Amino acid sequence: MTKLSVNINKVALIRNARGENLPDLVQFAVDCEEFGADGITVHPRPDERHVRYNDLPKLKDVVQTELNIEGYPNERFLSLVEKTIPHQCTLVPDPPGVLTSNEGWNTKENAAFLQEIVNRLQSKGIRVSLFLNPDVDMVNYAKDTGTDRIEFYTGTFARQYIQDSTAAITPHIEAAKKANEIGLDINAGHDLNLNNLKFYASSISGLAEVSIGHALISDALYYGIKNTIQLYKRLLT
Ligand code: PXP
Repeated sequence: MTKLSVNINKVALIRNARGENLPDLVQFAVDCEEFGADGITVHPRPDERHVRYNDLPKLKDVVQTELNIEGYPNERFLSLVEKTIPHQCTLVPDPPGVLTSNEGWNTKENAAFLQEIVNRLQSKGIRVSLFLNPDVDMVNYAKDTGTDRIEFYTGTFARQYIQDSTAAITPHIEAAKKANEIGLDINAGHDLNLNNLKFYASSISGLAEVSIGHALISDALYYGIKNTIQLYKRLLT
């Protein structure tokens, strides 16, 4: 069964708006797990506009399922990850000022850079995932870096899905087939929601995990976080 990792960045964004500790991010992570989340994802960005670097050790202390830290692997990020030792680190090629990650690595051009970082994190016992567009060549080159997993960027899928679900899913099916053949585990994320998740998850064989933040936290404003996690989990069974 595909695991649901809840991205809690948006909860940190609300907290930061007032500079105090409401909502309590760490308690929120604990509660998400109690309500059925299989993991917690955070994406600290250089300006710390949502999750802050000093949130990470506190999250690591409480998360019982899987902590996934995403981000661009500059030295500050890497040393933070090495101090925290999350279960998984997802490397994302997003430049510092970007609003949200919107494309995957070029694993051919960045092969040597990624290989060194993958080795470095794996040597600390951290599972590594590389954020990728659904592209068979990029999947093949990702394998050469030694990464454990890849995470497909699903933002383009989500936009296309509304018009033409077959065209939207086709590159993901092909890239996933290649990943399965060469032994790379598959995660996916970005703009997955209550409308598109079931179609995506049932189309991709070997989908280990989805990480979902923006839509899930928005849905929680209406349904509450406990119900919302259950609604998403039901789509993954
Ligand atoms: N995966 C990665 C690598 C991301 O950067 C993000 C956004 O932080 C997500 C998944 C989750 O995307 P969304 O918030 O649209 O669900």
